Amino acid sequence: MSQRTLVLIKPDATRRGLVGEVLSRFEAKGLTIVAMEQRLIDAAQADAHYHEHVEKDFYPPLRDFVTSGPLVALVLEGDEAIEVVRALNGATDGRKAAPGTIRGDLSLSNRENLVHGSDSPESAAREIALWFPGL
Ligand code: TYD
Ligand code: MG
Repeated sequence: MSQRTLVLIKPDATRRGLVGEVLSRFEAKGLTIVAMEQRLIDAAQADAHYHEHVEKDFYPPLRDFVTSGPLVALVLEGDEAIEVVRALNGATDGRKAAPGTIRGDLSLSNRENLVHGSDSPESAAREIALWFPGL
């Protein structure tokens, strides 16, 4: 079933010059870019995006990280896009993510892990409405 999912290419990717590398993996897989924009977000947008994590110990440094520089927000579309993107991204911790995944190949961090992908249809709907309200 065709789905849409919200992806962030995070500030570490922008800083490291890896936006093209990350984007090319999604494109090569066959996903379609429905919307894409570079943004510099504030703490309120970070809190809204990560609302399920705001009370967690790891959140304050995560908020500092995601607001530390430009990121690229996009909506991708394709068959089973939510699960497919999360498989391409790999496990959350870049040190443990499998080789072949974006995080497994390119990240050595549990925080600076290059990408976000929505984790369910409900999250995708909420996150797409948050980042691209016109869509
Ligand atoms: P989470 O939603 O658990 O991971 P995912 O991005 O794979 O859906 O966590 C959100 C982000 O928070 C994660 O990408 C990186 C960061 N994070 C930490 O900095 N420390 C942690 O211990 C965890 C679990 C996540
Ligand atoms: Mg998550």
